Amino acid sequence: MGRPDGHKLDVLFEPVALGELRLPNRIVMAPMTRHRAATGSLAPHRLNAEYYSQRATAGLIVSEASQISQQGQGYIGTPGIYSEAQIEGWRLVTDAVHAAGGRIVCQLWHVGRMSHVSLQPGGHAPVAPSAIRANAQIYLDSGFADTSVPRALVLAEIPLIVASYKQAAANARRAGFDGVELHGANGYLLDQFMRDGSNRRTDEYGGSVSNRIRFTLEVVEAAVGVWGNGRVGIRIAPTSVEGDMHDSDPQSLFGTLLGSLSSRGLAYVHVVEGTGEVGRDGSGFDFTGMRTLFSGSLIRNNGYSPDLAAAAVGAGGCDAVSFGRPFIANPDLVRRFREGAELNSTDKATVYGGDARGYTDYLPIV
Ligand SMILES: Cc1cc2nc3c(=O)[nH]c(=O)nc-3n(C[C@H](O)[C@H](O)[C@H](O)COP(=O)(O)O)c2cc1C
Repeated sequence: MGRPDGHKLDVLFEPVALGELRLPNRIVMAPMTRHRAATGSLAPHRLNAEYYSQRATAGLIVSEASQISQQGQGYIGTPGIYSEAQIEGWRLVTDAVHAAGGRIVCQLWHVGRMSHVSLQPGGHAPVAPSAIRANAQIYLDSGFADTSVPRALVLAEIPLIVASYKQAAANARRAGFDGVELHGANGYLLDQFMRDGSNRRTDEYGGSVSNRIRFTLEVVEAAVGVWGNGRVGIRIAPTSVEGDMHDSDPQSLFGTLLGSLSSRGLAYVHVVEGTGEVGRDGSGFDFTGMRTLFSGSLIRNNGYSPDLAAAAVGAGGCDAVSFGRPFIANPDLVRRFREGAELNSTDKATVYGGDARGYTDYLPIV
């Protein structure tokens, strides 16, 4: 079945290089937490490998966020990338994706204050730049729960967390990924350090914009040190309010960050637009201007249709667009876009947690 609108979307099916990553098309699968890691070990397993390999025709898959340490966990059932069992589990995933002709990077995650004492080592408080609780909820065995009050990291602990990121980047390499994406978006630890609503530190990691982006730049340097140039990306969400986040001047903060990231050998910057979970932005933040602030490749996200994505890529506003929710029920999303086929709808009850139902049983078109 041909698309009635002719070649309008063709630009999405052109190959592109994001650093050293070679994508056959511009349709990226956005990272999506699905809460289906093995109970106890929090290791990925065969079902996860099947799920990702079904989606291997994406230009690039960004894995669900994967905590770099137990301290970095904020929800039940999310996979880690810090133990041998988790590395072996991820190896199943990367082998399956590669066997199906795809590419996959691991999204490295530390939730910071978006956690709960019951998930933390020794039942201690979650850590954060400052002891400010997020007015937000996380997900536990017992259902949704308020986040716990965090404690502020002492200065001497910060290099240890950078070292955990570095170890996780090395683990991702051993697990056979094609690169890593640092989760700097949506109110987690990197974001908490960057925005002044959550960072009230008075040392060299707080106060001025250059101090607040220091931790992120150190993590970038550590990851690029492991992977070399062109295989590390970073995700940011300059105006997202998820996780009770805000900043007094996002334009200046993220403008400075993007300028500083330009010379660091990144594969790409992945930007989530908008103030919330869905839709176009109403914040006044200049997302289009990001193109001139960052000299490398750009992936844009949040609520894009294929038409909007093609327009953004066609106008030179980005190199690729990522799609999240449409990939849940449409493993062959790239083909469906190409052929103008209808999309399957998502069963909301099976998005988070569970088994194969609503995970690997959505069928491709034949
Ligand atoms: C089920 C679900 C899980 C998500 N998990 C993550 C995640 O692990 N890491 C992340 O950066 N964003 C996560 N997101 C946000 C998506 O990557 C994406 O930014 C969002 O869905 C908007 O894109 P879309 O309109 O194409 O779905 C998640 C979104 C959904 C729907």
